[in-house]
Amino acid sequence: MALTHEDLALALRPVAPPRVLEEVYTDDQYERIMGVLKSHGPWPTITANHFDTVEELVATSSGPMREGEGPNITLDDIATGHFRGYFGKGSTCYYPELEDCFYSPKFLELARDYWGAEYAKPTHMLFNFCGAHHSGLSPHLDAVQFRGIRIENAPVWLANIMGKSGLFQEYMVKMAQVIAWWYRGENGTFTYWPDGPFGQPKVLEHPLWDKGVLVQNEVMFHRGDPVGRPEDRDIPGLKHRSMIGYEPDLDDWAITTDGEVIRRYRPEETRLLVHWSAEVYSDREELEKSLDHSDDLTTDVVFERLMADMTMRGTSFTEPTDPLHDTDFIRSLIATYTIAPTTDWLEQP
Ligand SMILES: [Fe+2]
Repeated sequence: MALTHEDLALALRPVAPPRVLEEVYTDDQYERIMGVLKSHGPWPTITANHFDTVEELVATSSGPMREGEGPNITLDDIATGHFRGYFGKGSTCYYPELEDCFYSPKFLELARDYWGAEYAKPTHMLFNFCGAHHSGLSPHLDAVQFRGIRIENAPVWLANIMGKSGLFQEYMVKMAQVIAWWYRGENGTFTYWPDGPFGQPKVLEHPLWDKGVLVQNEVMFHRGDPVGRPEDRDIPGLKHRSMIGYEPDLDDWAITTDGEVIRRYRPEETRLLVHWSAEVYSDREELEKSLDHSDDLTTDVVFERLMADMTMRGTSFTEPTDPLHDTDFIRSLIATYTIAPTTDWLEQP
């Protein structure tokens, strides 16, 4: 029996209400984090970190593209001046000076407590960094993971389609995130839907300085709100491949495209988000199942189950030979498993 729209809406709520956190990092930790940003850049756009095609990008967001839009849009057309880098992946911290942040006992305790679980381990840690820029108002889900279908071996869009489908709940990896912001400029708040996509959203308001939330963002719609004054948001020349880097001589941040500076920000104009994510295991049995892969999904099983469900729903599609890269098939998936919070994102420019 296929899940209804209402079933999906119920499934897309965090395991517990998000918790607002103050003084998330120490001043010393913040200084070391900024030290890494300054000395290890320049950093690519968020979208360049994750997507090769427009379809893949849209699949992680709220809905299918409108008729006729597809072939005319490139990633450059929808590039935004928002940049990302990783401090660690696969439970491995890239920068020794940030190990106390990555392996933080405080965060691990928060993650366990949020789930009422016995065990947690840090998985990855990243930052988003920007100044005033245009951004879509699309609420989205972060990359959900399943035993066997993970960020290391599967595209984000597939995992999120799986999450939205509600067909793989028993394989879902339990996760929790601590997300923190440092930003004293205008706008740039965080909006989230703790009561499901059709519930009333909440906004994490200013002052956003070392303030954060404890959340389960892979099943809770959320978005970063546009940053900076509207009149400051244009970035002419911005491309999917643009980068941002610190220029110590000027003490500013420069966005470049192919090495040419197209925009500068003063430090106080920039907004930093640090995202720490953990996997959580209810008990030893669940941990063992994850470690020995005795109950893993494969992409074959995933596509079989998705196609069976689409058939049952009466969705027409051509069975793909390469489902991971078949644009028409991906569009059918998006159209089938779209769900979007309220409606305000529909008015995006
Ligand atoms: Fe997110």
